[in-house]
Amino acid sequence: MVAFTLPKNSRINRRGREHRVEGAARVRRLKVYRWDPESGENPRFDTFEIDLDTCGPMVLDALIKIKNEIDPTLTFRRSCREGICGSCSMNLNGRNGLACTTAIEDLKGEIRITPLPHMEVVKDLVPDFTHFYAQYASIRPWLQTVTTQPSGKERLQTPQQREKLDGLYECILCACCSTGCPSYWWNSDKFLGPAILLQAYRWISDSRDEVTGDRLDELEDPFRLYRCHTIMNCANVCPKGLNPAKAIAEIKKLQVERDI
Ligand code: SF4
Ligand code: F3S
Ligand code: FES
Repeated sequence: MVAFTLPKNSRINRRGREHRVEGAARVRRLKVYRWDPESGENPRFDTFEIDLDTCGPMVLDALIKIKNEIDPTLTFRRSCREGICGSCSMNLNGRNGLACTTAIEDLKGEIRITPLPHMEVVKDLVPDFTHFYAQYASIRPWLQTVTTQPSGKERLQTPQQREKLDGLYECILCACCSTGCPSYWWNSDKFLGPAILLQAYRWISDSRDEVTGDRLDELEDPFRLYRCHTIMNCANVCPKGLNPAKAIAEIKKLQVERDI
């Protein structure tokens, strides 16, 4: 465990750490999930007050401020701060989202921050993505071909063929959708979940890919694909505005069409 000195206005009580701000005009309270597997202690919530006049506008700015100025042991993932890398996905006031693109002022009341739901926790706000990435690898997310590439040329697409990837290629694999899907909560061992199925459809839709039949075969399974029960949380929660439910429906449609 990292040893550090609690700053002024911080105290530890039975429920967790509490940090207060005095003399600030605009203060917000954040309740942050904490769990350190090395401590042997139960998870808890720490409360941090933030002076908005000395903090950036996004939830990630507040977390970075807490880590830099109040508690350096607070652990979370982030990289791009632009909604591109997908690292800072977490649950904010009960809704999955990206901390870097969620404005503090858009969240009401005390802001409750927990890791993405129904995933193992590595520490504090960091979920274990091992299984999620293994599922991603299982759909072979790369271009597969059987014909020889035309000599000296790239495999080309028409603008219309390229357009079919819009709404799919933008996925940043943040897992907000999968961890917001009740079917995935209860069957994540076998159901691929909305994020991975959207990625699967991205390769099925690619005019240059030549193993579409194999890809559809691999998904024709009561669990891998058909555990989607059109609950639609995935489309409601995606921070990139994508619609995994539609991608799943399109895969099912292609399977029916080829069976006819
Ligand atoms: Fe994240 Fe959206 Fe991709 Fe799901 S579909 S992983 S919510 S970007
Ligand atoms: Fe889940 Fe989305 Fe289907 S929330 S059940 S994957 S429509
Ligand atoms: Fe990259 Fe938030 S830090 S998406």
